[in-house]
Amino acid sequence: MKLLLKIGSAFLLFILSATGFAQKNNTTIIKAGKLIDVENGKVLVNQMILVRNDSIIQVASRINIPKEATIIDLSKYTVMPGFIDCHTHITGQTGGDYYGTIFRKTPVDFAITAPINAKKTLEAGFTSVRDLGSVGLVDIALRNAINNGDVVGPNIYAATVFIGSTGSHGDLNGFSPYLSFNQPKGLSGIANGVEGVREQVRYNVKNGADVIKFGASAGVLSEEESVGGPQYTQEEMNAIVSEAKMWGKKTAAHAHGAEAIKMAVLAGVASIEHGSLIDAEGIQLMKANGTYLVSDVYDDEYILSEYAKLGFPEKIINKEKMVGQLQRENFQKAVEAGVKIAYGTDAGVYPHGWNGKQFKWMTRYGLSPMAAIQSATINAADLLGIKDKTGSIKAGKKADIIAVITNPMDDITILEQVQFVMKNGVVYKNN
Ligand code: ARG
Repeated sequence: MKLLLKIGSAFLLFILSATGFAQKNNTTIIKAGKLIDVENGKVLVNQMILVRNDSIIQVASRINIPKEATIIDLSKYTVMPGFIDCHTHITGQTGGDYYGTIFRKTPVDFAITAPINAKKTLEAGFTSVRDLGSVGLVDIALRNAINNGDVVGPNIYAATVFIGSTGSHGDLNGFSPYLSFNQPKGLSGIANGVEGVREQVRYNVKNGADVIKFGASAGVLSEEESVGGPQYTQEEMNAIVSEAKMWGKKTAAHAHGAEAIKMAVLAGVASIEHGSLIDAEGIQLMKANGTYLVSDVYDDEYILSEYAKLGFPEKIINKEKMVGQLQRENFQKAVEAGVKIAYGTDAGVYPHGWNGKQFKWMTRYGLSPMAAIQSATINAADLLGIKDKTGSIKAGKKADIIAVITNPMDDITILEQVQFVMKNGVVYKNN
């Protein structure tokens, strides 16, 4: 009997190691030349990080190295927590053939390329993303495949479909009304009225949404006339946020216009996305409510230099010219007033993997390099409600750790070239 048990456990061990579970008790020591302590806003020197399996066990200037530990020597590098992009569209890519995408692509096309985008995003140092809008539930499939270890990518907090009113930024506009797009529920989140939006929130949650995203105002890269006009009533916004809350989900509002921003803040959203035309009253309201601003201040650069060449409709590019610069100036006003800032880039508007390019623009418009890094780490984790898991290098958190070769406090653009990436204790990049 005893022998049988022994054989049995040996067999179990074999199975476990064959499936990779025997990675248990993997111990790593990372030697960090510089370590960014985002919680205290300090750059520490010569630190050691003890990682066991997927977690950080200890951070100190001197740790007795366990015999079994693998040593990763980053003593010439600046080490920091893995970045979190709070606004991506990791399953898609705008900015190419606008009509071709609308008329000829299906969620299957997006599903095929999504893993490529996911890998690029992770390799750029972004160990988590909040994905704010996808079609066909491709985001949920991608998230699950990454969690299963089948696909390489960041941790994904997914919204499923963008919820928007008829004729809104989330709808398809500018076509003949006799053309029927016949968009089934999973392909579009068009919902109207208090009952309609509540039902749509339920649909999204039922199908795996971690967060709810809706369009409070008009948008740029869509054909409706306005850029900033409200596209839901106060009652509809209140209903979306309260329904999401009932299911334990936070809400993110796409909002460029000043009025829509205030309405969404009053409805109780966790974050305003874009925030381009925010006014002084909106800034005060965001401060008072502790609402995060997630402003994609890099995108104007890419859209104005590349979209015309890519064949994007001029009419839409002209909308960008109305908001791009104002967005940056208003971002600076919000920063100076002390509005909470989280990093979000709208990745998919520009090529995936370029997520780090926004740091430069944030520091040009008011943030210190440290504050910009905090926006992409500890603040972003706070917005996503995952501060207990990630967002800083601290004992008890997941080992989401990245490194760059020079100190980003001297030149922030080094964050566009992340050399080392560890997610959940697994090394995905080590140049
Ligand atoms: N998805 C956003 C929209 O279409 C992108 C805005 C890009 N432009 C900008 N200045 N941030 O509204």
